[in-house]
Amino acid sequence: MSKPEHIAIVMDGNGRWARQRYLPRVAGHRQGVESLRRCVRACEARGVKVLTVFAFSSENWNRPQDEVSGLMDLLASALAHEVKPLHESGVKILFLGDRSRVSQRVRDGFAQAENLTTGNTKILLNVCFNYGGRWDIVQAAQRVAASGQAFTEQAMSAHMVTAHCADPDLLIRTGGEMRISNYLLWQCAYSELVFSDKLWPDFDEAALDAALAQYAQRERRFGKTSEQVRSSTLQAA
Ligand code: IPE
Ligand code: IPE
Ligand code: MG
Repeated sequence: MSKPEHIAIVMDGNGRWARQRYLPRVAGHRQGVESLRRCVRACEARGVKVLTVFAFSSENWNRPQDEVSGLMDLLASALAHEVKPLHESGVKILFLGDRSRVSQRVRDGFAQAENLTTGNTKILLNVCFNYGGRWDIVQAAQRVAASGQAFTEQAMSAHMVTAHCADPDLLIRTGGEMRISNYLLWQCAYSELVFSDKLWPDFDEAALDAALAQYAQRERRFGKTSEQVRSSTLQAA
């Protein structure tokens, strides 16, 4: 049964989870942090090497002011309380996205978390914050241009914020919507897509295993024919 090394997740559905309970949306985001903690452990236990999560998109600034500030407070609190336990369990953390719009305090928190966990090797957790797939492509193009290199796919990949890891094998979106919402547009060219109806706070180990079971059923052809893929897996076995 084939297992993904790199899973990317659009953690969607926190607001609806809260609304179902007559709670403020930010209570859903708080529960979302719990769900992420559980998901990191579960991925680690299943041998996943890289987990890349969408925590805040470049479009999420357009939400009501109180929700945006609630999310920024939650980020500050997660940096203060979640990083140390993650570090102790061997998680390496990186923050991917445009840092120019977050506060200096948050930027310092990102740098501290990254420095503290830099030597960890159990699992890599990429947290996409103020991230947009189009922004990523543009910033990579700008850096390729500035370096004077030719515009090749390789040069672009080497300048995307995910240059340190291979592309996601599996992209999971929770919350029932079937769209990409400006997530890893370049990197998900050949990722397997799995959509879960579970709201992110409800996305537990069983839901992860269901997504992994779907992934295991897929045949990744990368443009080839099914016959070609099957004969090369037979040869490799
Ligand atoms: C995802 O949950 C978290 C963020 C976008 C920050 P939502 O807040 O989008 O939850 P729904 O989609 O409104 O339920
Ligand atoms: C995508 O969810 C962004 C994150 C999960 C951080 P949204 O809830 O913002 O996506 P849309 O707006 O419904 O497409
Ligand atoms: Mg949403």
